[in-house]
Amino acid sequence: MCGIIGVCALNRNVTPIISLGLRRLEYRGYDSVGIAIVSGDGLIIRKAKGDVDSFLSKFKVEELSGLTGLGHTRWATHGPPSDVNAHPHTDCSGRIAIVHNGVIRNYNTIKRVLELRGHRIASETDTELIAHLIEDEMPFSSSFFEAFVRAISRLEGSYAIAVINVEEPNRIYFARMKSPLIIGLGEGFNIVSSDIPALLDYTRRVIVLEDGELGWVTATEVKLFKLTELGLIRVEDDDLSTRVRFIEWSVEEASKQGFPHFMLKEIFEQPYSIKSTYEGNVEDPALRMAASMLWSSRNIIVTGAGTSYHAGLVFSYYLSRIARRLSYNIIASEHKLIEDSVGKGDVVIAISQSGETFDTLEAVRAFKARGARVIGVTNVVGSALSRESDVVVYMRAGPEIGVAATKTYTSQIMSLSLLTLFAALEGGVLDRSEVEDKLVKLSRAHEITAKAIEESLKHVPENPLVGSKSIYMLGRGLGSLIAREAALKVKEIAYIHAESYPAGESKHGPIALVEKGFPVYFVATSDSPEIAGNVMEMRARGAHVTIVKTSNWRLDVEPGDSVEIVEIPLEDSEILLEPYPLIPYFQVLAYRASVARGYNPDKPRNLAKTVTVE
Ligand code: AGP
Repeated sequence: MCGIIGVCALNRNVTPIISLGLRRLEYRGYDSVGIAIVSGDGLIIRKAKGDVDSFLSKFKVEELSGLTGLGHTRWATHGPPSDVNAHPHTDCSGRIAIVHNGVIRNYNTIKRVLELRGHRIASETDTELIAHLIEDEMPFSSSFFEAFVRAISRLEGSYAIAVINVEEPNRIYFARMKSPLIIGLGEGFNIVSSDIPALLDYTRRVIVLEDGELGWVTATEVKLFKLTELGLIRVEDDDLSTRVRFIEWSVEEASKQGFPHFMLKEIFEQPYSIKSTYEGNVEDPALRMAASMLWSSRNIIVTGAGTSYHAGLVFSYYLSRIARRLSYNIIASEHKLIEDSVGKGDVVIAISQSGETFDTLEAVRAFKARGARVIGVTNVVGSALSRESDVVVYMRAGPEIGVAATKTYTSQIMSLSLLTLFAALEGGVLDRSEVEDKLVKLSRAHEITAKAIEESLKHVPENPLVGSKSIYMLGRGLGSLIAREAALKVKEIAYIHAESYPAGESKHGPIALVEKGFPVYFVATSDSPEIAGNVMEMRARGAHVTIVKTSNWRLDVEPGDSVEIVEIPLEDSEILLEPYPLIPYFQVLAYRASVARGYNPDKPRNLAKTVTVE
């Protein structure tokens, strides 16, 4: 969703830090951009609909100067993208400026009250109301901070907020509830930001804020409080210093490094990220702890959203096939469907690259409230999921900036494969030598992926899916699960309707749509040779069929005019290895289709990298 940055510095101009931060945060929202700088006795505010680069050059932002300022990239929730709805927003006096990520649920009530009290609301956003609320509380407060706290107490919903006011030009006030916010600690400056990449160029020392926390930063200090039902409780400086984390991600990892898009760079990074996931987890006691928790559980529930949900489907299949444990997959936003039957003794595997996805966190909270324990699988150290889980398995994939998940999908599968093996060992389903044998195979997954990327670049046409409005992406067994992810990639960045369902279902309805030339992709995995029959039924109806399979097994289908077979090298017959050769083909397919159609795969319309709203 939206990206926030705020910087307070002692003796350096903050606009270059904010400008670079906006570029780094653009993946969180890209419909409008804005900046507010404290200057002299006023605020300089520039904001507009559009992308960060056009904004920065249009307003010559880097020529602005000041020691305190805010920046914001927007993903519209309240009010469509427009110049007036872009953040920062101000109060009636124009002396308070605010940026916000989240959704204020009691928007209508607050708006009515503020209007009755004479406030002039300029935009359609919920954010602007917060600036007026602070202004409204000023006459009843002994300080700006008190007015800020009183205003925050009136909010319902989710928010990460940063506020400046001209009366205190060297401070940024902040508050967090259910939307991510971190503080970066520098020498002579401090940064408030939605995410790590925005501050990596300047510092690696961060404090991750928790729900209900608020306070302020200056260039040299951080003051933190927790808003509780009993009132405001100060977080002592000593406690705060124990919360400082060192971020190991590098600036290079979070930049394009010569690639035209982050997505392509991240596709190419997979051999490294997969290796890092394997090596970082194979000896990690947390993984063993998670495996033992899993094995001794009553029920196993696997949840997540989008790509993370898809990785969870692969996990459940491996759990059943390799560890002989049944699990239940539930899309995070639908947790209500099963939560009444979840309770003590159950274990939830919550998968989230960002660790900040609202739906996944809500599912975790609902299951925990009923007594379940949680294993979080995430890429982001200090994320909300990592803090709310009983045990955390870190993916260690490095930062993923492209909105379309690529390397985190393969790293999720790797970490969940390791979890499967250790759970099987824990339960005595596999013995140590069988597990070690499979680990040796998994340790080669990065080489298989490197080869698969090379092959996919050869096989996927430069301009794929020309003229296609709708396609099917099918599979059976493991292939049906990978096909789900392949279809999501094509939909989200190439804007082509790509439907995925288990191939055996064709005859129960969907084949009615198939006519001559209709594109059908099959993800063919060695566990389901019977897919040959599904290929034949599509061929018989004139579909244009592309089969992507690994070379370790024989499919009983002959290629022909309308049937192409792409074979990606894989010598081993280990089912744990099959996602790695297959998924790169579809990542490259979606990427090339997006670029060929003139879209930017890093910024798909209507989407944001981390979905922190309901
Ligand atoms: C996939 O390409 C998307 N970025 C999206 O489906 C994503 O996987 C989903 O929003 C979940 O995100 P998370 O892993 O950060 O929780």
